[in-house]
Amino acid sequence: MSVNQLVYVSQSTRKMSSEDLNEIQRSAKNNNQHIDVTGSLFYNGGWFLQVLEGPLETLNALYKKIEKDPRHKNSRILYNEPAKFRTFTRWSMNMTNLEHRQADKYDQLVEVIDAAKTDRKIGASSPAVTLLKMFKD
Ligand SMILES: Cc1cc2nc3c(=O)[nH]c(=O)nc-3n(C[C@H](O)[C@H](O)[C@H](O)COP(=O)(O)O)c2cc1C
Repeated sequence: MSVNQLVYVSQSTRKMSSEDLNEIQRSAKNNNQHIDVTGSLFYNGGWFLQVLEGPLETLNALYKKIEKDPRHKNSRILYNEPAKFRTFTRWSMNMTNLEHRQADKYDQLVEVIDAAKTDRKIGASSPAVTLLKMFKD
């Protein structure tokens, strides 16, 4: 089945604790596994960046639901394109809290979120494309 990748950035409406993030990940994993969605969620203490992968119609419906979640605001789609392959095949929803500096790919991810926030490119690439490339194999 053909797959789309949707990437958005948003601002958290309050500071998220580890428990808050675990709760988001728990419901995301529960739901996503039933609707054939995979992806990854990054949080830097103030902003979320999320990659969602799955059938186009499913993603659009899911994004509409997520967008309304009061835990974040000002959500903005950075990327919504067909993809040959999923990037996060193993995760119904991975979670990376960048408040922990030991996070894998920490420096690059901080830069990607920063660029996404301000709608800036990284070299010639958009932040979403940079992000997807970083996790490609
Ligand atoms: C930043 C963020 C990312 C989220 N990502 C997902 C997701 O990938 N899948 C999902 O089903 N819900 C996600 N949610 C939660 C939804 O907004 C909603 O609370 C949840 O799907 C409701 O699930 P429930 O009906 O099982 O309680 C996310 C919420 C936030 C704040």
